[in-house]
Amino acid sequence: MHRLRTNSSTAEDLLIELDRDRSRAEPLHRQVAASIRESVRAGRLRHGASLPPSRTLAAGLGVSRGVVVEAYQQLVAEGYLTSRAGGYTQVALEPGTGPGPAPRTRAREAPPAVDFGYGHTDVSTFPRAAWLRSVRTVFAATPNERFAYLDGRGVPELHQALADYLNRVRGTSADPKDMVVCSGFGQGVSLLIQVLAARGARRLAVEDPSPDDDARPLAAAAGLDVVGIPVGPDGIRVGELEKADADAVVLTPSHQWPTGGVLSAAARARVIRWAQRRGALVIEDDYDAEYRYDRAPVGAIQGLAPDRVVYCGTASKTLVPGLRLGWMLVPPHLVDDVAQAKLLADRGSAVIDQLTFADFLGRGEFDRHLRRMRPVYRRRRDALLAALDTHLPELTPTGIAAGQHVVAWLPPDLDEAAVVAAAARRGVALRGVARYRLDPAGPGGLIFGYATLSERAIARGIAALARAVADVRAA
Ligand SMILES: Cc1ncc(COP(=O)(O)O)c(C=O)c1O
Repeated sequence: MHRLRTNSSTAEDLLIELDRDRSRAEPLHRQVAASIRESVRAGRLRHGASLPPSRTLAAGLGVSRGVVVEAYQQLVAEGYLTSRAGGYTQVALEPGTGPGPAPRTRAREAPPAVDFGYGHTDVSTFPRAAWLRSVRTVFAATPNERFAYLDGRGVPELHQALADYLNRVRGTSADPKDMVVCSGFGQGVSLLIQVLAARGARRLAVEDPSPDDDARPLAAAAGLDVVGIPVGPDGIRVGELEKADADAVVLTPSHQWPTGGVLSAAARARVIRWAQRRGALVIEDDYDAEYRYDRAPVGAIQGLAPDRVVYCGTASKTLVPGLRLGWMLVPPHLVDDVAQAKLLADRGSAVIDQLTFADFLGRGEFDRHLRRMRPVYRRRRDALLAALDTHLPELTPTGIAAGQHVVAWLPPDLDEAAVVAAAARRGVALRGVARYRLDPAGPGGLIFGYATLSERAIARGIAALARAVADVRAA
């Protein structure tokens, strides 16, 4: 058997078996064709994969070029391959769609007509051309040695660019040497929890409600107690935090997730006093503060006490989640441990992406992108609020001043789970607040992510939701 690398970018392996003893019964060109046909059918060679030039494959197999040319021609005739100008031969078919039985496809459920699911960022708006300019600059200007392994903190250019940006826009007190670049908030909080657990922390406080897919399961996995602190209209209830005997707290002070409250200046100062008194750590998740619509930006709490607060930022809301880029400003006494944990986790985030983002920030492209996107999201939010006001005035929207989602509280006579289920039957996907609560008691509420929806789709979705609410009431 000959295992040959193709010249395709997907680098598929061609597994070609030739039995020269059988060449009378089955000529070599048929054997080559049969092997390639089988690889296409089995999906080993995928749609669009390039095959090696006939001369290269012939040399690799130790056969004359005519054998390969004939095999390719046969497969082109059968529709497995296409022959393109310039002598390129590519796989033409999706696996399983060639002659022979096609695999049975499973019936798919129809996707929801309008999806208010939280967490979808409008990935279609990624500033590709500007990013590409930064990629080009990085490749033109960066010496090869820079593409080697690095320490766990990330590249100094990005530390500096982010520190400048955060100090200017988020009111942080950022020293570039205390910055650790990570794969989004998800990894950042994971590293912090590991470090805290290793230093003897026992209890992590989180907001209630709060996300169920990051700090909470991570802390439980690290053996920490997780305690939920109720939130009110202005974010976490600090009096409850003071009673919780926690070693650290995860907060979303600028836009509580999901309810949207903003922690007041007095409450912020009280959180900091609590942390200083206890020697506790505040983990500030500043996930969507750049998108603020109705009032001046609310500064980060890290600026009040850089020795007690870890500031965590992410590109997931401002650019796209697929970048997996996040950053932390870590108190000096923890930064070496966090950088070491990062190194152990994945040997550092991608250097090329970090340099690209540094260049992107330095050119002002990030600011430009935010300036471009703010009115787009604001119009979507306004469309959502207008539609709720028209079709469902009995709902009470909250946390509307920022971000890419809104929570609307339900009146007491409407059961949250029943409304979510009835909405799904009407083609509207959305989630309730209940699944994010630690203490199940609390008012029913719906979470509307609006970042990816057109204003028309939003209006259509809310009109359908109103019909779903009527269904629930009728039942
Ligand atoms: C509350 C909150 N924090 C942080 C993030 C971002 O996480 P990551 O940076 O890991 O993508 C999200 C994303 O949806 C979020 O909802």
